[in-house]
Amino acid sequence: MNRLKFYCIALLCTPLISVAQSRTIDQRVDSVLKLMTLDEKIGQLNQYSGREVTGPASDKKTNQLNDLKTGWIGSMLNVKGVKDTREIQAAAMQSRLKIPLLFGQDVIHGYQTVFPVPLGESASWDLEAIRATAHVAAKEASASGLHWTFAPMVDIARDPRWGRVMEGAGEDAYLGSQIAIARVKGFQGEKLGGLDAIMACAKHFAAYGAAIAGRDYNAADMSKQQLWETYLPPFRAAVDAGAATFMNSFNTLNGVPATASSYLQRDILKGEWKFDGFVVSDWNSIGEMVPWGYAKDAKEAAQHAIIAGSDMDMESNAYRKSLGQLVKEGKINEALLDDAVKRILKKKFELGLFEDPYRFSDVQREKDVLSDKKHLAIARDAAAKSIVLLKNKQFILPLKRSYKTIAVIGPLGKSKKDMLGNWVVFPNDTATVVSVWDGLQNRKEATKFIYAKGCDITGSSTAGFAQAIAAAKQADLVIFATGESGDMTGEARSRADIHIPGRQEELFKAVKATGKPVVALVMGGRPLIFDAIAEEADAVLFTWWLGTEAGNAIADVLYGDYNPSGKLPISFPRSIGQIPVSYNAYSTGRPVKDPKNIHYRSAYIDESNLPRFAFGYGLSYTSFKYASLEADKKTFKKNETVTLTFRLSNTGKAAGAEVVQLYIWDKVASVARPMKELKGFQKVSLNAGESKTLQFVIDRDALSFYNSDLRYDAEPGEFEIMIGGSSDSIMLRQVIELTGE
Ligand code: NOJ
Repeated sequence: MNRLKFYCIALLCTPLISVAQSRTIDQRVDSVLKLMTLDEKIGQLNQYSGREVTGPASDKKTNQLNDLKTGWIGSMLNVKGVKDTREIQAAAMQSRLKIPLLFGQDVIHGYQTVFPVPLGESASWDLEAIRATAHVAAKEASASGLHWTFAPMVDIARDPRWGRVMEGAGEDAYLGSQIAIARVKGFQGEKLGGLDAIMACAKHFAAYGAAIAGRDYNAADMSKQQLWETYLPPFRAAVDAGAATFMNSFNTLNGVPATASSYLQRDILKGEWKFDGFVVSDWNSIGEMVPWGYAKDAKEAAQHAIIAGSDMDMESNAYRKSLGQLVKEGKINEALLDDAVKRILKKKFELGLFEDPYRFSDVQREKDVLSDKKHLAIARDAAAKSIVLLKNKQFILPLKRSYKTIAVIGPLGKSKKDMLGNWVVFPNDTATVVSVWDGLQNRKEATKFIYAKGCDITGSSTAGFAQAIAAAKQADLVIFATGESGDMTGEARSRADIHIPGRQEELFKAVKATGKPVVALVMGGRPLIFDAIAEEADAVLFTWWLGTEAGNAIADVLYGDYNPSGKLPISFPRSIGQIPVSYNAYSTGRPVKDPKNIHYRSAYIDESNLPRFAFGYGLSYTSFKYASLEADKKTFKKNETVTLTFRLSNTGKAAGAEVVQLYIWDKVASVARPMKELKGFQKVSLNAGESKTLQFVIDRDALSFYNSDLRYDAEPGEFEIMIGGSSDSIMLRQVIELTGE
């Protein structure tokens, strides 16, 4: 058959087949729904936690085993492992209709193999690596009986006091959207129903990352333009990437709890975006409408939530207790429940659970997949790519093999547990975790390593300082391992002060005073403030929480086996008073033109406007040169594109990768625009001395924004195009003009 004919047939057939298949599932869903009593429908909307809890324990007194057998539970969270999931599924199989359960879990950055925390991994700007770790997490979780992860968290967050900044992709809507796509695709694989795929859950819908003052569970208040421009795009990207589920959020948005928001869930998500999956509430977020002062009791809260489009109730028990009565009293239409049930059943069919409710629970597969050593190699690669080199005075890194003695100093030098960070499925399984110390030992270098803890992460004791100073004196160089503890970021871990805690910076100064060169490894799940280290250390690597292979990856970078290529996905402030500080600031009517003359300018009298380390910033052991920018046209119309061509050269001595970033500024618009907005990036690997010609194509979408009527479009006028290796290091500029339709 000639190729053309084959393609024509394929094109004609594909939609028909997929329509036929989806009709089959829809028909099967309808036929199950017809058999269901009102109580059985409510059961499908009810999700309970197993023995572990990931939120405040509820006071509901239920007999879960009995509820499973009588069809009162549609899904469980916090039950994992083939043995337990089988046992619990077997109880559900005793119910009248034998509708299989869904098992969900917070598989946030790995299951058995732990990968870098999501914010850290986002510093790789490496979409393939990000997709790969999500896929391994899905493989491991699905082999352990799970069907569903409550990830990715796609909340944009610009306030590092908020502990959950660690779970997302940082401050930028464009980068956040690309990473959302990579993560959803990684978790869901080729297609839901594969044994290596679990359902993704884009959370927390919406604006949870804007919690006022960085205090967890707080209100969010913003203009609709801000919502659409900054907070919604990663969610939209997740829908387009096929995310099977969404989770709503604890916060109010402009006064309305997100869980009760028809605007968010019905108008936008299920309406305009045509999302055909289901929405799970966050943990008791239905019940929390009462303390919010939005509902007088749990019954009214359930009414608000179901009307607004929250399909499944996680842990509040409000649906179970009240939906039946609300239907009987005519306060809600049963059709609302039917729609929610259908959405949930559809996913159960797509996962193949009606054919075999135990298909994800196979003992041998669990054993094989969880012991697959290839996963460690993927973890090491992702960890190395996530590390950001913040400073490297006189190329002190990579480390010389000629050093006779290196002192590892600091409370995080030998820690295993902290390397995992927060939101880990097996936080006590630390035996295989590689600490910094282990990673250095594993290399079998001729250098002798010595260790002194110096002080704890928190607390006020300086009793270990003397030993640390003595160790530094014996060494040619010090590796100073410092930061937060792994559990200081994550849910309910807001901090009013994001300095490195305890006496660690004092310890640093004491060690530095010995005159020995100091390479600092700063660890945390959020941007931290560390003035003395930033100013006085010879080199600084920000290493986040890198997971199981942390120490090996850090050693790879310290010794130059991997040339650091990470770039910050979020700004690091100089002072707490600057927060929120993000790269996409406005010019204002009184921009600072000369930092020495800030009188009557938009500035602080006691601090710079600029962050300590900017969004997109990160050094390499080599250097890159940007040159020869050319635009194929300088003026263009809305239906045209502009192609920008330029050369990137590796001008240093080592092979390396550069994240080339494209920013734009719409200089005059009907709504004042930020002076820089990320609109594209490419991660490019170059050997020493090598050059490549690169291109960015600018289209209407890249220039569009929401005007004051929430119309998304590009407006005619001049745009400044900026290309560089960081938001504060623009190397190439070009003005182009959109002339009209
Ligand atoms: C509350 C958290 O906000 C959410 O992200 C998580 O998925 C659920 N608890 C379940 O653990």
